[in-house]
Amino acid sequence: MIIKNICCIGAGYVGGPTMAVIALKCPEINILVVDNDVEKIKNWNGPLNNLPVYEPGLSEIVKKVRGRNLFFSNDIKSAIEKSEMIFMAVNTPTKTKGEGAGMAADLKYVEACANDIARYSKNDKIVIEKSTLPVKTAEKIKDILDKKNSRVHFEILSNPEFLAEGTAIKDLFKSDRVLIGGDDSPAGKNAIKALSQIYERWIPREKILTTNVWSSELSKLASNAMLAQRISSINSLSALCEKTGADIDEISLAIGMDHRIGPHFLKASVAFGGSCFQKDILNLVYLCQFYGLHEVAEYWHQVVKINDYQKNRFAQNIIQYFGGDLRGKKILILGWAFKANTNDSRESASIYVTQKIYEAGANIDIYDPQVPKENILHDINIKWGYTLDEVKKRIYIKKESLSTDKYDAYVILTEYEDFKTLEVDPNKVFDGRNIFDNALYSIGKSQ
Ligand code: UDX
Ligand code: UDX
Repeated sequence: MIIKNICCIGAGYVGGPTMAVIALKCPEINILVVDNDVEKIKNWNGPLNNLPVYEPGLSEIVKKVRGRNLFFSNDIKSAIEKSEMIFMAVNTPTKTKGEGAGMAADLKYVEACANDIARYSKNDKIVIEKSTLPVKTAEKIKDILDKKNSRVHFEILSNPEFLAEGTAIKDLFKSDRVLIGGDDSPAGKNAIKALSQIYERWIPREKILTTNVWSSELSKLASNAMLAQRISSINSLSALCEKTGADIDEISLAIGMDHRIGPHFLKASVAFGGSCFQKDILNLVYLCQFYGLHEVAEYWHQVVKINDYQKNRFAQNIIQYFGGDLRGKKILILGWAFKANTNDSRESASIYVTQKIYEAGANIDIYDPQVPKENILHDINIKWGYTLDEVKKRIYIKKESLSTDKYDAYVILTEYEDFKTLEVDPNKVFDGRNIFDNALYSIGKSQ
């Protein structure tokens, strides 16, 4: 099957960069990225220095391919009609109400996508799950598609995305593996082949792994859960380090040198953040509970509980350092994003830690090189539940980088290089992103 037109529903952190790279590598394929957010599409079509997603290397690629074979629009109907292959890259947040609230993935956007695909399809389509989904979702999607449109054949594939924000383009260029899950039927095999041929343009054949749909869906959840579990493991040990005088960096190094363990994802931190880890683990916990596997559910739930514990412990370390009362103290928060080189603050530890410091009475300046001021204010408003009027007396968002203003404490919450060269009294630095070789003060700072 020759693919000439691809549609991607969802122009977010996954859909945007992934499609930009496919467009670059496959110049003969037209890629139509659609989204129901009008402002977002306007920005994808606007100046390169103001794209909705900040990723190193992304704007250079968009510059080359936008208008050539990469197009952004709100016209979902015509993009579906035209394409032989449709990626679903809409968000799948944790459910906030109904059955499974606080745990299960909310599939309403995925279901809306499936409804649109069924409504507008006039010929056979390969439908690809790019969003992270609970195992067995493909069945649900197939059910919607077949019930609502029996005139065409839909072949569902699972092709989870493993890119990490901040290194998305690098990860897409040089993926450790590309996973494609599909049916064992002739139509399934053809669909897998069609997708595989796209990736083969730049990914070595042996790195393209094909599995059944359920293994592919679950592999994504399992990968994220295992990565997060390593961080929670090392973070739990950082608490023991504080009590015993052991050094968590030395421990990470020592255990990471065992080739069976390996050195990655062993950096102690204030907590993992981002849109995926917590959501995916809670989703896994919910699935285990659903299938009556309560011990397994509890095992994975503990990864999230340690993460919350670590955030709180870090905030309390700072508050206790000042004797529990921060009134009259001036604190600089360095970093709002959940990691460096992204403008994304979803589930960022910074949101939680800054709230605790604020509630202890401090005057706070916040600086982040990528997250726009209005996003920070939005997080404060939505996540803290305070009006902006309430906080404006004690919160100030700085535009310029580090000034020489004197603060009572400097709290590093995103791992930017610049933050490690602060010329300030090291005794005043609380480093929640203890990933620097010469960390000034780590989370293990003893009082
Ligand atoms: C992705 C995956 O889809 C998610 O499952 C994974 O766990 C994390 O990465 P992400 O790209 O980060 O999500 O989400 P986001 O940046 O919010 O992008 C989703 C886009 O889909 C948004 O632009 C939103 O406007 C769009 N959308 C959502 C639609 O176009 N239609 C809908 O019905 C819902
Ligand atoms: C993650 C997965 O890595 C990626 O494969 C998946 O597709 C999406 O989810 P992402 O959330 O973008 O990617 O970033 P990641 O680099 O995994 O970092 C997640 C969080 O863990 C960040 O807050 C980071 O600071 C933290 N972290 C990471 C640590 O605290 N210690 C570490 O050793 C590594």
